[in-house]
Amino acid sequence: MLAGKRILLIIGGGIAAYKGLELIRLLRKSGAAVTPVMTPAAAQFVTPMAVAALAGEQVHTDLFDLTNEAEMGHIQLSRVADLVVVAPATADLIGKIAGGLANDLASTLLMATDTPVLLAPAMNVRMWEHPSVRRNVAQLQADGIATIGPDAGDMACGEYGPGRMAEPAAILEAITSQLRAGPLAGRRILVTSGPTHEPIDPVRYIANRSSGAQGTAIARALAGLGAEVVFVTGPADVPPPESVIVRRVETAREMLEAVQQALPADVAIFAAAVADWRVRRESSSKIKKDGGALPVLEFDENPDILAQVAQMGQGRPPLVVGFAAETDDVLAHATAKRARKGCDWIVANDVSPGTGIMGGTENAVTLITDTGAEDWPRMDKAQVANRLAHRIAEALT
Ligand code: CTP
Repeated sequence: MLAGKRILLIIGGGIAAYKGLELIRLLRKSGAAVTPVMTPAAAQFVTPMAVAALAGEQVHTDLFDLTNEAEMGHIQLSRVADLVVVAPATADLIGKIAGGLANDLASTLLMATDTPVLLAPAMNVRMWEHPSVRRNVAQLQADGIATIGPDAGDMACGEYGPGRMAEPAAILEAITSQLRAGPLAGRRILVTSGPTHEPIDPVRYIANRSSGAQGTAIARALAGLGAEVVFVTGPADVPPPESVIVRRVETAREMLEAVQQALPADVAIFAAAVADWRVRRESSSKIKKDGGALPVLEFDENPDILAQVAQMGQGRPPLVVGFAAETDDVLAHATAKRARKGCDWIVANDVSPGTGIMGGTENAVTLITDTGAEDWPRMDKAQVANRLAHRIAEALT
């Protein structure tokens, strides 16, 4: 869910530093890159070796490290991240940030950064309740610094109460929601993508040339603007984005079911190239050559997923966007398709062989809305996706 994001993780010196290791693992698993920084005290609890091995990057510890300063200065280190996370945030680190002190690498980075900061405090319960810590935390919150935890419970020091660092999974969730800022934050968007495969027998199927590239780029762009994206994909050539909820399907009927389960949504975008027909009787064993007699395949029409959602009445997503892949008379066919299917927008494209669009990296689309048709110049599929995502964000405000 955090692909493309970089977290600057400052590990403070407390027993909860061991949970920092698990947090690194979870962040990496979510697709984030982690730049680890440790205070000297943190290295008393976990080894820089373990931190570096899990992060897959070198650990920064020293403010006056000339090698690192030559490669990447400490100021720059604090700026390349999407979010600075301090876990555990000790009473000492909290006090330094609140008081504006910068006498080591961690505190200097925190002072020099213009990136949002999330603190996961952890300390003895009496320390947490101490008036100076209360004051410092209140000051940091007033300064716009986010905090998560601490939790109440048994503590390593044998006492009970608030002071235990929030669990790594909860910190990961806080990081994810903090990074999900943007004009589409809080919006749930459904995207279908890729081809469908309609089985003939256990080894053969009917498919089409869709690579899933355009749908994938759209899902990525929407997630980049902060949307929660449910990505229902057929067997595509390109991998799904990391930052979306993925539902994999094979057939049109499975896609319909996954779409119905994914609703409600604020927006539904149907970029999939759904097979119009399926083989009426799928053979449960491989069809054999039969002395020269050719097999005859009968077909049934697949459900029209876009039309069903666009015409569903109650629970219909407020904005339904379809695609129209045409090989001739693009505008006329796409305009008719918009009316026939009942969707709000149609993204029309010419997929005739000469264009190289189907399966290629570029697209030239016409956006048809209730106010008319708009030709977009030929551009990269990622650019089409970004432009569409911004149009959607505008339409929702
Ligand atoms: N679509 C769908 N379910 C289907 C067929 C199409 O959801 N069974 C959606 C596609 O995802 C796309 C739009 O409908 O958003 C138009 O798809 P397209 O293949 O261009 O149109 P068809 O409905 O197949 O119409 P035609 O065969 O007449 O071109």
